[in-house]
Amino acid sequence: MIPRALTIAGSDSGGGAGIQADLKTFAALGVHGMSAITSITAQNTVEVTMVYDLPVELIREQIRVVVRDIGVDAVKTGMLHTPEIIGAVASELRGISTPIVVDPVMIAKSGARLLREDAVKTLVEELIPLAYVITPNALEAEALSGIRIRDLESQKKAAKIISELGARGVVVKGGHIEGERAADVLYFEGEFRIYEAERIEARTTHGTGCTFASAIAAELAKRRSIFEAVENAKRFVTDAIKYGFQVGAGSGPVNPVGKLLRDAERFRVLEVMREAVRRIEKNRIFMEAIPECQMNLCMAIPGARDLEDVAGVPGRIVRHPDGPRASDHPWFSASRHVARALLKALEYDPEMRAAMNMRYNPKFIDAARRLGWIVSYYDRRLEPEDVKRIEGGTIPWGVGEAIKNAGGKVPDIVYHEGDWGKEPMIIIFGRDAFEVLEKAEKLLRVVLEEGEE
Ligand SMILES: Nc1ncnc2c1ncn2[C@@H]1O[C@H](COP(=O)(O)OP(=O)(O)OP(=O)(O)O)[C@@H](O)[C@H]1O
Ligand SMILES: [Mg+2]
Repeated sequence: MIPRALTIAGSDSGGGAGIQADLKTFAALGVHGMSAITSITAQNTVEVTMVYDLPVELIREQIRVVVRDIGVDAVKTGMLHTPEIIGAVASELRGISTPIVVDPVMIAKSGARLLREDAVKTLVEELIPLAYVITPNALEAEALSGIRIRDLESQKKAAKIISELGARGVVVKGGHIEGERAADVLYFEGEFRIYEAERIEARTTHGTGCTFASAIAAELAKRRSIFEAVENAKRFVTDAIKYGFQVGAGSGPVNPVGKLLRDAERFRVLEVMREAVRRIEKNRIFMEAIPECQMNLCMAIPGARDLEDVAGVPGRIVRHPDGPRASDHPWFSASRHVARALLKALEYDPEMRAAMNMRYNPKFIDAARRLGWIVSYYDRRLEPEDVKRIEGGTIPWGVGEAIKNAGGKVPDIVYHEGDWGKEPMIIIFGRDAFEVLEKAEKLLRVVLEEGEE
């Protein structure tokens, strides 16, 4: 049976926080998400311009119908604008025995008030005592505890004070506290735990609080312990910030499905690479393509950022008496040279996701030109001194030069004619590993057939 989670929160028309973040988070964590919308906000990455509270009876009814028919394994509450809304939600939740995560949303990232000042008292009296865990940020924890929060010690102190309001667990979040690490403090039934992650410099933090709280709810819906739930939620929100979208003029939205999609793409790339390597091994013609320094075939996931996002063949593809042989199964971070060339090409054309190096032979270059392909080259001897000093800098520099020489288009092939102790080389680019192999095979055939004449 799929775990079911209900969010009771406001709608963020910008899609970064609120109901929108909660449902994405539930889906990404394999939980069926349901929603009771409390307020509709007109909001973007910069500001909240209008708030419309839904009728209290409609809020109650959204909760009742899903509880009655579908069932709920965990609840998350977010924006509850007025004392009336908080009172109504609390009275509905009193009859539910599943864990409730209360995110005491007071102020939006952009600074707009999402909880009326006169509503704090109702929150404290009616909702917090129902919470299995409450997740204030530093400002909210200051408002609830009455103490200044600057560091772990004061986070701990505040967590304990807030627990006295009746919540079983309290997480005082550290997103707003300066420091190299983003540290959250959990206080649960007398025990403190600290959850830390590197602080990400990106501005894609719109929706962190909603994502974190709904991730805790999703994990609790799966019957995880509070400690596991917070640990997983912490990792989840860190990834959501990392893969966030830099859109809008303010804090861009987090991306709760970014990591999941990346992992799915990694699987797809490995499938293609596995089949491509099989094709190379079955076709002796590729023996002619393997240079002294061996050959590698690489393919990147969409949106690749670094070597970890590029699959290659560990130990490369080598000449074996029986034919071309991959030393190992394709995997990520397995190539440096070809992968670096590919990452450079991706800066110019995100569709060119595969590359392979190939033995240099002027006949291949000639054949490519006659086929009407884009051919470009670079001269390693012209590499500037400052680039030489960068580890792994030569290839990206050279490929960049070759692309510029081709008018900014990623060529079908790029070559260089070597330098002292450096073998000349060809790199073939294509949209996927299959296209690269097709191009390589075409060049090999043209040259072989002409050689036989
Ligand atoms: N720059 C960052 N890098 C890493 N983690 C962060 C960063 N900013 C926030 N977090 C983490 O995100 C989670 C949410 O914390 P935060 O203090 O931002 O909540 P919030 O202020 O309620 O967010 P929101 O403004 O979306 O309501 C916490 O786990 C926090 O440690
Ligand atoms: Mg918040």
